Amino acid sequence: MEISVHDNYEELCRFVYRVFARRILSEARVTLGLATGNTPKRFYELLVDQYERGVLNFQDVITFNLDEYYPMDPDDPHSFVRYMREHLVDHVNLRQEHVHIPDGSTEDPEREAETYEKRIRDRGGIDLQLLGIAENGHIGFNEPGSDWESETRLVTLDQHTRERNFEDPEDAPSRAITMGIKTIMRSKHILLMAAGDHKADVLQKALEGPVRKEVPASVLQLHPQLTVALDRDAATALSI
Ligand code: GLP
Repeated sequence: MEISVHDNYEELCRFVYRVFARRILSEARVTLGLATGNTPKRFYELLVDQYERGVLNFQDVITFNLDEYYPMDPDDPHSFVRYMREHLVDHVNLRQEHVHIPDGSTEDPEREAETYEKRIRDRGGIDLQLLGIAENGHIGFNEPGSDWESETRLVTLDQHTRERNFEDPEDAPSRAITMGIKTIMRSKHILLMAAGDHKADVLQKALEGPVRKEVPASVLQLHPQLTVALDRDAATALSI
């Protein structure tokens, strides 16, 4: 595990940008795993900015998002499809058929989950996976207690997750389709990014505590190529 701590959020995002840009620039065809949430917003802005300047080309880049709420209309402002359009997809030359996000509007979510997992496998797996972390230690929507062997599947969201992600938790879907722990762990390289002192405690547990299902992100300690990128506030509880 390599942990890098940055002076502020901007520096953190610039670091994450450089890791991704290196892959995009050096490989003919790269498969990226992408995350949503507040944390990566500036990182996506940097990708768009560098695309506009002619530095990056997304023609042969393939993306798989971690998760989507269920049920969820793709046009709903809370959908991760909308998020990705707004923050990346509508602004760069990613090909539509290369962008994958679980379909939250399907009538058969179990089948969608299985197909999604298969699509990842058929593309040869994920080369570089971006992850955020929630205060309860979830990665993607793998809530505490998730099985280490889990693949993409339909899950029930914790109340904590519904409250943190929606102004009115009553509006929040109770379920989601998420890559599983095993799906994430199969990625060749994982970059976990976090900012802010509200993430400090969970990061200490995830990175320095025992590996246990109650803290899903703790499984990342066992990944052979994990990069953790934090701002100073997120790193305050770590012993490094
Ligand atoms: C959501 C997503 C996670 C994300 C987490 C952190 O629940 N499913 O993939 O990592 O939120 O979000 P934020 O970056 O807003 O703290």
